[in-house]
Parts: sequence; structure tokens; C-alpha cells
Amino acid sequence: MPRRHALHSHLRQDRRPKRIRDIGTQQLTAAISKAFDFSAYRTIVDVGGGQGQFLAGLLEKFPSYEGILLDQPQVVAGAPDVPRLQKVGGNFFEEVPAGGDLYTLKLVIHDWDVPKAVAILGNVRKAMKPAAKLMLIEGLQKGPEPDFAKWMDIMMMAVTGGEERDEAEYREHLDQAGFVLERAIATEAFPWLHKARDQSWPGWRELTAQVPKLCGQLAKRFTAFRALILFGDPFVPEHHMFI
Ligand SMILES: C[S@@+](CC[C@H](N)C(=O)[O-])C[C@H]1O[C@@H](n2cnc3c(N)ncnc32)[C@H](O)[C@@H]1O
Repeated sequence: MPRRHALHSHLRQDRRPKRIRDIGTQQLTAAISKAFDFSAYRTIVDVGGGQGQFLAGLLEKFPSYEGILLDQPQVVAGAPDVPRLQKVGGNFFEEVPAGGDLYTLKLVIHDWDVPKAVAILGNVRKAMKPAAKLMLIEGLQKGPEPDFAKWMDIMMMAVTGGEERDEAEYREHLDQAGFVLERAIATEAFPWLHKARDQSWPGWRELTAQVPKLCGQLAKRFTAFRALILFGDPFVPEHHMFI
């Protein structure tokens, strides 16, 4: 049996790791919502979201939100019912639910090797509207200093066949799946927030670079329109003559 499958079936039987994980998830949710303003996103899809503890924590904080939880059918079957939270049992290698403004993947990608991680990200991108955003909530390998991400890297390598990535690796995987990494945000806890957008959607830098060009075009149009009015163009209605 592949190692990650053995791990997931063990976790289904032994409830102790779940209790410890629940406490960890509450603390992580607090650290994540302190580091990032989620208020701009109305519908959040948590991909591989376990039994919905993270998503339920966000929905409690933002009462107008809706959440969609995707995980394996046997996992979501045990998830508690939470108002405004829709549970979807499925397989992120096949399909991810559409309709989210923000797609979160918390401690999911680190379970998988590069081709599988890119396949999951590719399916998220297929489900997303171009303006929606992606947030990977994962450890970040940085420099030679000892840190928790390195310990997790060894754990992932040994247990699931996955790994913790550095920023260049996140950029590369995201690029392969059609995303652009916008920024990496530190939290008070171990994971970082890696925020990404669809490659076809312009970011702030691209939009602000367009501003001088747009202003120039507007000014040219306005001057031409005013000249037409002053010279009494027959197609301009009388009531526009005050300009
Ligand atoms: C490391 S856990 C992270 C769970 C949760 N996001 C969290 O941070 O607590 C990885 C999750 O991916 C889910 N998963 C694994 N394979 C999956 C698949 N093919 N489709 C959907 N979910 C899957 C597992 O059931 C598990 O809940």
C-alpha cells in the first residue's frame, strides 16, 4: 500500500491525532486570519479541507460568507453540519467545485510530489473564475537556518512522499498550473500564505502601468469630442452644447 494511503487509513481509525489536530487548527485559523484580510471574499472553497474546521472558523468570523468544503467522501461524511457550509465529497485529481472567490489549500500540496501537486493546482485553476484567487497555506523553506519547515520537509518525505517548498519552487509549480504568485505572507504560526492569481488576470502592477496610457487616451477623446461640439457637429444633440 502506498505510504500516504497507509497514513490516511491509520488516521481514520485512531481518533487521538484528530483531537490534537483540532486544537492545532483553531490556533492556525487564528494566526491565518490575523495575517490576511479575508473580508473581500464572499465564497471560499477549501480544497482538501478535512472535516471543515478551518472553513468553519472563517465562517464564524465572517457571518455573510459561504463556504464549500471539498475532501474525500469518507472524510466529509464525518464533518459536522455548519450553517452556510456546503460539503462536497470528491477527488481533487478529478474535479474541484466551481463558484469560489477564494480557493484555499491548507497543508495539502506538501503531501504530494511535483506532478501530483501541479495536477491538483491545475484542477483548481480549471474551476476558478479568472478573477478568483488562490491561497496555498503551506510551510516555506528559507535559507540554511534550522526551522520547522525543514523538520516538516523530512516528515513529508518519509511519510507521504511530498515535500516543503521554497519560494522559487512555489513560483515554478504555480506557473506550470497557470498561476502567478502575487506574494508570500508570514503568519505567527508555521505556515505562510502564498497568494496567487490566474495568469490571464492582470495584477495591480499591470493595471497601474496602464493608468498613464488610459489617461492619455481619455484626454485625446475628450479634446476631440469638445472640438466636435464647438464646431457644431450635426450628430451631437443640442443639449450637449453647454460643454
Ligand atoms: C494534510 S491533510 C490537510 C487537511 C486540512 N486542509 C488541514 O489543514 O487540516 C490533507 C487532506 O487532503 C485530503 N485528500 C487526500 N487526497 C484527496 C483527494 N484525492 N481528493 C480530495 N481530498 C483529498 C485528505 O483527506 C486530507 O483531509
